[in-house]
Amino acid sequence: MSELKNDRFLKALMRQPVDRTPVWMMRQAGRYLPEYRAVRAKAGDFMSLCKNTELACEVTLQPLERYEMDAAILFSDILTIPDAMGLGLYFETGEGPKFRKPVRTEADIDALEVIDTASDLSYVTDAVTMIRRELNGRVPLIGFSGSPWTLATYMIEGQSSRDFARAKTMLYTQPELMHQLLEKLALSVIDYLNAQIRAGAQVVQIFDTWGGALSHAAYAEFSLAYMQKIVDGLISHHDGRDVPVILFTKGGGLWLEKMAGTGCHALGLDWSTDIAAAKSRVGDRVALQGNMDPAVLRADPAVIESQVDAILNGFGAGPGHIFNLGHGITPDINPDHVKVFIDAVHKFSAKY
Ligand code: CP3
Repeated sequence: MSELKNDRFLKALMRQPVDRTPVWMMRQAGRYLPEYRAVRAKAGDFMSLCKNTELACEVTLQPLERYEMDAAILFSDILTIPDAMGLGLYFETGEGPKFRKPVRTEADIDALEVIDTASDLSYVTDAVTMIRRELNGRVPLIGFSGSPWTLATYMIEGQSSRDFARAKTMLYTQPELMHQLLEKLALSVIDYLNAQIRAGAQVVQIFDTWGGALSHAAYAEFSLAYMQKIVDGLISHHDGRDVPVILFTKGGGLWLEKMAGTGCHALGLDWSTDIAAAKSRVGDRVALQGNMDPAVLRADPAVIESQVDAILNGFGAGPGHIFNLGHGITPDINPDHVKVFIDAVHKFSAKY
């Protein structure tokens, strides 16, 4: 593998000193970019784009052509695992993901098999291999998966949900059944992320998008415990380097100490957490990634710059900060504002 030319992101994840704060954006390859929309149109639809190795590689690299980002993230989706389990994923324009065969009963869960990435999801590892080759050491590549709990919500609800009525009903009325499902998902995620690491992903992030919807006790038992299992099961060293793991629980600000206790390397923060407070709580154990409200990108350049500076100032001096948004960028954002954002991180962070 070629020499890494920009290792700011990997250094910051290991809480080593860097010349300026590394930055990338969740959903950085996406609909706010006209060139992304053009390639998706060529592919036909979103899942066909994910399954087309060349095109998935092309859209992964698109944001790096426009902006000086310090990491690339594999273009794919968290719902590839339930799709591979046979749930029949499809997307209806404007409505988000849906499953033809949601998981509702004990029989449904019994019938699920832990995935074998090599045979079920080779389109994902093929994309990782090609992206690493095309990146040619420019920046590190992030692989990712959903957390078991977050995947389970989509599988049980059959689509996006506001209140997770069905998933929470199962959690409280049939907790053993929920544990069976989460166990199968955790084993699948371990296989999936390890396959991504072997194919060339240098960092992995676990998206626990809906962990914050759980009660304090339920978070520990039904989300964090399975992320712990994943952290324990991942390849920790590959190709001469440690493989850092980032845990992102949206709405997880109350549980940072518990998350840091899993042995992960970094925590993704959403915008509801004060980064200075987070640093004083767990900054001696893990790096912190975040956490500008994506809505700031709708404001004028001067506002974007001052919000970037405020977060850099909140984190303050010392290593261990990766700049990011507190959640994914939305499709309505002007691509010029993203340039203002990325450039502001570079411009202002050198002084810290
Ligand atoms: O960050 C990146 O650039 C990498 C690619 C990526 C996508 N999805 C591409 C995508 C990543 C990391 C994801 C993760 C993902 N997918 C999550 C967790 C992250 C988060 O946002 O909390 C979740 C919950 C999903 C499930 C999912 N996929 C939803 C809810 C949707 C619909 C979103 C919407 O705004 O309509 C998707 C589709 C999806 N995944 C798109 C992209 C670029 C948009 C699809 C399109 O192009 O039409």
